[in-house]
Amino acid sequence: MDTATAKSGTIPVSRDMGVDDLATVASIEAVSFDRPWTQEMFRDELGQELSWSEVAVEPGGTVVGFLIGRRHPDAWHLMDLAVSPAHRRRGVAGGLLRRFLEAADAAPTAVILEVRQGNVEAVTLYEGLGFIPIGNRRGYYTDTHEDALVMARAPGHSGRGDQDTGACASACGKPDQAPTTPGHDRLSGPLLAIESSCDDTAAALLTPVGEVLASVVHSQDAIHERYGGVVPEVASRAHVERMTAVVREALRQADCTVHDLGGVAVTVGPGLIGALLVGVQTAKTIAWSRRLPFFPVNHIHGHLAAVWLSDPQVPFPMVTLVASGGHTALILVEDCRTFRLLGQTLDDAAGEAFDKGARLLGLGYPGGKELDELAERGDSSAFSLPIGMKRSGRPDFSFSGVKTALYYLLRGMSAGERADNAADVAASYREAIVAALVGKALQAAEREGVRTLAVAGGVAANALLRRRLREAGLSAGLHVVVPPLAYCTDNAAMIGAAALGGPVLAYPHYLDIDASASLALGRWST
Ligand code: KG4
Ligand code: ZN
Repeated sequence: MDTATAKSGTIPVSRDMGVDDLATVASIEAVSFDRPWTQEMFRDELGQELSWSEVAVEPGGTVVGFLIGRRHPDAWHLMDLAVSPAHRRRGVAGGLLRRFLEAADAAPTAVILEVRQGNVEAVTLYEGLGFIPIGNRRGYYTDTHEDALVMARAPGHSGRGDQDTGACASACGKPDQAPTTPGHDRLSGPLLAIESSCDDTAAALLTPVGEVLASVVHSQDAIHERYGGVVPEVASRAHVERMTAVVREALRQADCTVHDLGGVAVTVGPGLIGALLVGVQTAKTIAWSRRLPFFPVNHIHGHLAAVWLSDPQVPFPMVTLVASGGHTALILVEDCRTFRLLGQTLDDAAGEAFDKGARLLGLGYPGGKELDELAERGDSSAFSLPIGMKRSGRPDFSFSGVKTALYYLLRGMSAGERADNAADVAASYREAIVAALVGKALQAAEREGVRTLAVAGGVAANALLRRRLREAGLSAGLHVVVPPLAYCTDNAAMIGAAALGGPVLAYPHYLDIDASASLALGRWST
């Protein structure tokens, strides 16, 4: 810390606190707080290697205020700040704070502080200097059991009046979460991406320009098979058990360590809340440990990004059909971060319809893949099953009708007939679902006037859907993107690809980011 420095026109000036100041400092403290530090506590603080202790001194030499901070390597901590009552509202506290913050900026280091929730004046002062609330400490103040508001300020975030407030708004994901800077501009090394929104534990590494270095997926299908569906609590536990191994394996395959990373991305929603939490906590911990930038990602944005992950030159805008076990939607993708929902399923998701059909047919779990394989050997014109919403002009889907029709078709058959006709039934059922998906997707592309049609999500693995979409799209003169299977089902590479086009949060602004079970399209975090 430097010695007394008079900033032009600023009276009083600041200088290092010395042992001779302790009595005055303790007396200012005593009239400022209900539970004041003692003179001994200030003396101890002066002896601390990481301490920043300064006093504000009037021209006559009177000490009128002080600031105590700790310069921890990861973040500086503002611990105590007080001004004698007769000298308040003259900018003394602001002057002391500005010097502390300038030094933190030069380090460069974030600054953290706690303030009483009810101390509106102090909170306003800190906000004006670029601090933002990042959390609460319940009952932190032992005298009144009042909560502390924890505030943090990233280096260079000089607050109101700063020309750079736009950058601050985007870096903090606030106020409107509109991303303004593609993530890769801020990456100094590979991006680690993590996905755990449902029943796949996945991690991937991507270069700052989006090339996949490694992508590891651990499927929980074998675990959930015995229940006939994903059991949320079981999924969360399985994520906890596998996550570390999956991340390690991705790092190993990419030949790097946590020390090489430039940032961490993770699915924060939508999905199963307990499952999401495992990925979010893992990602936050790794990012926190190295003060890395953090990229929160919406799972659906991840599925959309599988398209440019597999075809980096894909022309925007495009209509993308997202069809998975939990979602079926048509989305207008204007660029890698501007999305509009055109229509969606009114009941079951397409993947769900495949899985329920597979269950009725006595196939494996989850079943979509097995039904698809069986259907390849069958005649799709053998049975006529209804195509949902066929006559509606709306870009929406409904699969409950075809599912019910399948149920009654199978109920009317003997066990022998069912076995003999299984492939034809599967082919007819698949035909009805795929006809709805392709018909609505083409209609939407035409209506939106786009030249690109894409498909994403687990159901994009369906052989008939892939063929039909390519054929129909090409004959309509559209550029059609059907990503490789590995990028259609849940994976972390697509989450990394989405992250690189989305908002990024600098340390410590992501520490209070939470998982969200229902995150709307277009939102990157809560
Ligand atoms: O995207 P995804 O891996 O997970 C979710 O976010 O839901 O999608 C999984 C869904 C499951 O319903 C699965 O049965 C279905 O995709 N699926 C298929 C095929 N492969 C996976 N559905 C039809 N045909 C397939 N070949
Ligand atoms: Zn998915």
